Amino acid sequence: MSLVTRSTMDGICTVKINRPEKLNAMNIDVARELIKTFKEIGRDESIKAVILTGEGSKAFSAGADIEYMAKITPDESVEYAKLGQDVTNAIELVRQPTIAAVNGYALGGGCEVAMSCDVRLASETARMGQPEVTIGIPPGWGGTQRLLRIVGVAKAKELVYTGRLIKAQEALEIGLVNHVFPPETLMEEAVKMAQRIASNSAIGVQMSKIAINKGRNADLDTGLSMELLAWRNCFTDPDRSKRMTDFVNKK
Ligand code: COA
Repeated sequence: MSLVTRSTMDGICTVKINRPEKLNAMNIDVARELIKTFKEIGRDESIKAVILTGEGSKAFSAGADIEYMAKITPDESVEYAKLGQDVTNAIELVRQPTIAAVNGYALGGGCEVAMSCDVRLASETARMGQPEVTIGIPPGWGGTQRLLRIVGVAKAKELVYTGRLIKAQEALEIGLVNHVFPPETLMEEAVKMAQRIASNSAIGVQMSKIAINKGRNADLDTGLSMELLAWRNCFTDPDRSKRMTDFVNKK
């Protein structure tokens, strides 16, 4: 049975972390499969939006594999963290927009993977957090960097230093998730958002993603230059041309 499953319908690809008996904790094999999956998705032009979720009703992912980390050397720990960072980078950099459907626990690496998606939708049952300090380490799959960019330095420090798990409502209040839904409608809502995104111009959405991602880590002038490049790229695209002409012709 594959540790990461994927199904695509009408341009929307749903990816599931599939290790429910371990609350979708991400061992080396899960991490490698996630990287491979997102690289393949990036090469598939028929995919317009991606939803990432966890198999089962209990967890998006309970994070890195503690059983494995309990027995590794410092050098092996660097390799594992680097692999985790490769996972979060592969997800963040995939050209299509990504929606994390956080269907339960998203802890440690699970929260870091959710944060590497463009949008986070949470079930009312979700619990999120970076509890790594409770087991003797800082977040290592991008959490010390992405959390502060999403919720600000003070909140990021509070959550990381205390290791406190937060409920969906608090995640919404601090901007860690975009919306909260009852568990039974979470996937339906994720699909609705993905469909809406997929109905827009693929290049328009993808260039927006690149400009926002690059600009987030740059000064304003650099970000604005990126925006110009992204804008220009769209003017070479026939879909952009058709959409504008259709508007002008009132189609
Ligand atoms: N790594 C490895 N295995 C994990 C895991 C992880 N991060 N999280 C859960 N599991 C395993 C448990 O060991 C257990 O396996 P077993 O049935 O073979 O004993 C199984 O998943 C179910 O977890 P369990 O702890 O029994 O469920 P629970 O409902 O009592 O508790 C949590 C749920 C999420 C609160 C608890 O599993 C937990 O704290 N997990 C670790 C979260 C964490 O610190 N993540 C950051 C890692 S860097």
